[in-house]
Amino acid sequence: MKEEIYDKLLSIVTAGFGEWLYQTIHYNRYEATPYEALDLFFQEYQLDKKDKLVDFGCGRGRVAFYIHHRFQIPVTGVEAIEETYEQAVQNRTAYLENHPHIGAPIRFLYGPAEDYKVEPADNRFYFFNPFSIHIFRKVVSNILDSIREKERSTDMILYYPMPEYELYLKRSTPFQLIKEVRLPDTNDNFDKFLVYRYDQHNGKLRI
Ligand SMILES: C[S@@+](CC[C@H](N)C(=O)[O-])C[C@H]1O[C@@H](n2cnc3c(N)ncnc32)[C@H](O)[C@@H]1O
Repeated sequence: MKEEIYDKLLSIVTAGFGEWLYQTIHYNRYEATPYEALDLFFQEYQLDKKDKLVDFGCGRGRVAFYIHHRFQIPVTGVEAIEETYEQAVQNRTAYLENHPHIGAPIRFLYGPAEDYKVEPADNRFYFFNPFSIHIFRKVVSNILDSIREKERSTDMILYYPMPEYELYLKRSTPFQLIKEVRLPDTNDNFDKFLVYRYDQHNGKLRI
């Protein structure tokens, strides 16, 4: 129910699943983060006006629109499947027509997340189980390269995280787990958000 109400409020169409046709060993198919999960998570985690968020594997853009609408910060969505990207762009047109007062930019880029050039102001990164660990490692490496170039505190938000993602972040990166938000009324151990942070003021972290 919440799915329909929120899509209508944002003037977008994001419900449903992507075609299996597009799923590969490395690229997972489209499915949106449930609005209910987003509501719960953002009761416990806030974004700041200075933040700039990238959703890697943004699909039709649900998380991008939700965050842009709620926090009014710049948001970028990166999507590798052309048809899905086009749906995000169509959603953007309708969303902007109905929400012209929000000044922060919202944009969608077509292409693989692993090729996205992380910008010096990007400091919040969202992942809902979009691709294999192989690609995740490449994307995290790009984020770390960008932090080396311009030191800044950076959060990675994972929804429905695969154990390989968790293990990799823990063992091989300076990101530290700072928050876990479990969804109520579920026995599904994956149904949670994890926030990993690189804290520039914590001297113990070395990259
Ligand atoms: C599970 S959906 C998540 C959608 C959105 N982030 C959300 O939470 O509502 C994952 C998306 O990642 C896209 N994807 C898969 N591999 C990708 C890659 N290498 N680069 C960019 N997008 C990718 C898929 O096409 C799909 O739309």
